Amino acid sequence: MYKTREVCRACGFGKKAGPGGIKSAEETEELIPVFDLGIQPLANDFARPTDERAGYAPLKVLYCPRCRLGQLSVEVKPEILYARNYPYVTSNSKTMLDHFAKIESDLVGICESQTGVVEIGSNDGALLKFFGERGWKHLLGIDPAENLCKISIANGIPALSQFFDEYNALTARRSLGCAPALILARHCFCHVNDWQGFVRGLEKLAGEQTVIAIEVPYAQDMLVKCEFDTVYHEHTSYLSIQSIEYLLRDSSLCLEDVLEYDIHGGAIMLIIRSRKVAQVGKAILFHAKEKIDLAMWRKFAEHAEIKIMELGAMVRNLVSQGKKVVGYGASAKSTVWINACSFTKKEISFITDTTPGKWYTLSPGSDIPIVDSGALTRELPDYAILFAWNYAAECIEKEKIFRDKGGRWILPVPDIKIV
Ligand code: TYD
Ligand code: ZN
Repeated sequence: MYKTREVCRACGFGKKAGPGGIKSAEETEELIPVFDLGIQPLANDFARPTDERAGYAPLKVLYCPRCRLGQLSVEVKPEILYARNYPYVTSNSKTMLDHFAKIESDLVGICESQTGVVEIGSNDGALLKFFGERGWKHLLGIDPAENLCKISIANGIPALSQFFDEYNALTARRSLGCAPALILARHCFCHVNDWQGFVRGLEKLAGEQTVIAIEVPYAQDMLVKCEFDTVYHEHTSYLSIQSIEYLLRDSSLCLEDVLEYDIHGGAIMLIIRSRKVAQVGKAILFHAKEKIDLAMWRKFAEHAEIKIMELGAMVRNLVSQGKKVVGYGASAKSTVWINACSFTKKEISFITDTTPGKWYTLSPGSDIPIVDSGALTRELPDYAILFAWNYAAECIEKEKIFRDKGGRWILPVPDIKIV
């Protein structure tokens, strides 16, 4: 189901196993374990009671002292994580649409033209559709999830149902008939195991003027705000700017700029371009401000442990007083919290979610039932833990009735508080 990874995927640091799995004597240094949640279920393995579960795997982050990348100690087989009926659908929430508008207007200003957009990890095609409505032409999605590509195609956005690599990069370029003005990848690069292969694919797909825009959660935000619930098996990397510079150093591409966004608890967009045309000044300035180091990871791990104990104690205390507690948003993050706190149906009666595909499934590891979002006002529990905290303002506003009738929100991030 998974294999271990002991070598940094960005810079190659770490003990390398030789023939027969024996590690070389010269390479004595190893990646440093910094955060360990033990053996955990796959965070998006929402399954119906009769479905077979994907299983469990270690959830541990190793830190690279050379390039400051954080990466999981294991790689779960991508076919298990994504290619089946992947339940994550790009949100059509107001928060997300505002974000689409922001990145579209930023990228219009950077790209040479609006002809040719390839999105890697295109999900159901929602972002490409948005770009199309704003006048971008020749759109193409690439995503391994068949169920989502079908939705994309039905909505008029062509999509290849594959993991992006150097081979389908050529297919994509041929089908566009030219190098794209823009290659987009939102929140999928940190899911990729083979970064070298991914970069080779980008080199094949991009032309000299192509802008490559890769949006990732920013590890520094995660560390500072203790968003430990974004550590799960799909997120194999927690990147630093230095790790990207190491990764690209032998390629024809380089980092030109880094844009910052509030989405998903803090994200950055890496603007990458051919070395022949890139102007790297802004990226160098961003790099100079970065504070990620081993001490920051250690502090994050200590803080996370305290938060897990805090939420666990708070909810158990409320339940022992006869209060009803539910979850709001069956996010992957909810799975991490629930299993870290060892919650069961006894503590959390159900989790509501707006995604129909998640209804009537059970949360991975705990078997807490997922129900429709109307359940919050139907059942009026005493407390709802906001597991979709990245949409906090929008959710709280939408669920006014719950608060008006005396319900209280438990916000888990950045600090646990009841509002
Ligand atoms: P999200 O934060 O997008 O992803 P992840 O799984 O990566 O942690 O998940 C948010 C979940 O919350 C998603 O399943 C949809 C749900 N949701 C609601 O139930 N109500 C809402 O108002 C919003 C915005 C999301
Ligand atoms: Zn490294």
